[in-house]
Amino acid sequence: MDIAFRLNGETVALQDVAPTTTLLDWLREDRGLTGTKEGCNEGDCGACSVMVTDDTGAQALNACILFLPQLNGKAVRTVEGIAAPDGSLHPVQKAMVDHHGSQCGFCTPGFIVSMATAHLQGKTDHDTQLAGNLCRCTGYAPIIRAAVAAEDAPVPAHMYDETVEKAASDLGGLSVQPRSADELAAWYLNHPEATLIAGATDVGLWVTKQFRDLGPVAFLNGCADLTGIEESAECLRIGAMTTLTDMETAIEPLYSSFAAMIRRYGSVQVRNAATIGGNIANGSPIGDGPPALIALGATLHLRQGQTRRSLPLENFFLDYGKQDRHPGEFVEAVTIPHQPDRLRCYKLSKRFDQDISALCACLLVTLDSGKVSGARLAFGGMAGIPKRAAAAEAALAGAPWTEDTVRSAMQALAEDFQPLSDMRASAAYRLKTAQNMLLRYWHADQGTMVNPLEVTP
Ligand SMILES: Cc1cc2nc3c(=O)[nH]c(=O)nc-3n(C[C@H](O)[C@H](O)[C@H](O)COP(=O)(O)OP(=O)(O)OC[C@H]3O[C@@H](n4cnc5c(N)ncnc54)[C@H](O)[C@@H]3O)c2cc1C
Ligand code: FES
Ligand code: FES
Repeated sequence: MDIAFRLNGETVALQDVAPTTTLLDWLREDRGLTGTKEGCNEGDCGACSVMVTDDTGAQALNACILFLPQLNGKAVRTVEGIAAPDGSLHPVQKAMVDHHGSQCGFCTPGFIVSMATAHLQGKTDHDTQLAGNLCRCTGYAPIIRAAVAAEDAPVPAHMYDETVEKAASDLGGLSVQPRSADELAAWYLNHPEATLIAGATDVGLWVTKQFRDLGPVAFLNGCADLTGIEESAECLRIGAMTTLTDMETAIEPLYSSFAAMIRRYGSVQVRNAATIGGNIANGSPIGDGPPALIALGATLHLRQGQTRRSLPLENFFLDYGKQDRHPGEFVEAVTIPHQPDRLRCYKLSKRFDQDISALCACLLVTLDSGKVSGARLAFGGMAGIPKRAAAAEAALAGAPWTEDTVRSAMQALAEDFQPLSDMRASAAYRLKTAQNMLLRYWHADQGTMVNPLEVTP
């Protein structure tokens, strides 16, 4: 494939690149830019962080799971391009020196890039901005102190990158970058065996960890009409290529608990790449998006050629690894009907940030005159697919909204699920904590303080 992008201010045009070459490998092996480090090679450590600018602005991404064609038309800044062209240090670099923010230094380039990107964006929630960057020796306090110290320094002019004209994709090729959903639909119908690549936060690992040869691929990032969020009187429509970062912003005023859970989804770098379409299409039983969307009664919109169909999202997940998706069919969007915000999302994982859920419960109970008029209880990590708890919902339906009712629903939940034991949690722990999440929902609804993070003296 042919691509063009800017690298530290210089335009780069590449012909016939292997589509699944990662930016990290290309930087280090082809360009000799070894400041960008390889730690985990799977999006977890942030040692490979780069700043990528497109028409919507700059953001930090992990270069290890970023394929070169995803950069077409954009601008990349690596750690080598953070100091000014005359060699003077960027304010975050100077602050890291002043505050002793580096010991062995392996993580430092990644931190510098994440800090410089947040600095450019004017973001000062440093714990969140740096949750995707791991340091095993300095400790985070000096690094955060450095980030705070640099907050008010002006952004150096060279940090504002310009984008370039995209190289055109030859849709007759084996691997392609369609420019619209129409182009994608026509091409995919004729190449149903191809792998679609959205944010590559799953697919990237098939290449870097499983060493899979993907064969023909289509990059969806050129399809502008698959991106974005539209609000109508009835619903919120979220395009498949909308990133989790953009989703968090749009969801926050409507369903704040869902937004809070998205805030714990991977890291800034992962959320900047991962799309909601990929999160649904991969059919993972422990994905965080589907349970929340199912609890909200979301509808999935699929497209195959010129044929479109819509189905309740919960019906899309048939069995472990099996979804209701036909050859050549792709996710176009998901819609969430407007409703009062009765949703609460509980994500249980071993770490607060940057961890996959052992279990996630997204619960929505509506009331009428003190009785349950509707219940949508959706769980991740409790079965081979994201799934509603039918027996527990039945135990709630029409009953008075009391602790006794909730305790019967907790009993019924044991009929709904036979969870697995794995490295994240045992079956018994999963069931117990899922039951307790129902109780927690009820207590929270009574106004009891149930979140230790919310407790104030
Ligand atoms: C470090 C790290 C942390 C993570 N943390 C979390 C987490 O906390 N919670 C969580 O839920 N997930 C997490 N993930 C998993 C991953 O981010 C999500 O599953 C993500 O949403 C996938 O989206 P993507 O755009 O990157 O998909 P891709 O990797 O590009 O694709 C995933 C799958 O979906 C298919 N696909 C993509 N778009 C479409 C479409 N429009 N139509 C049809 N098929 C499509 C692809 O062909 C592929 O099979 C994490 C991943 C990493 C690497
Ligand atoms: S090398 Fe760890 S996130 Fe890329
Ligand atoms: S300074 Fe050694 S890993 Fe951070």
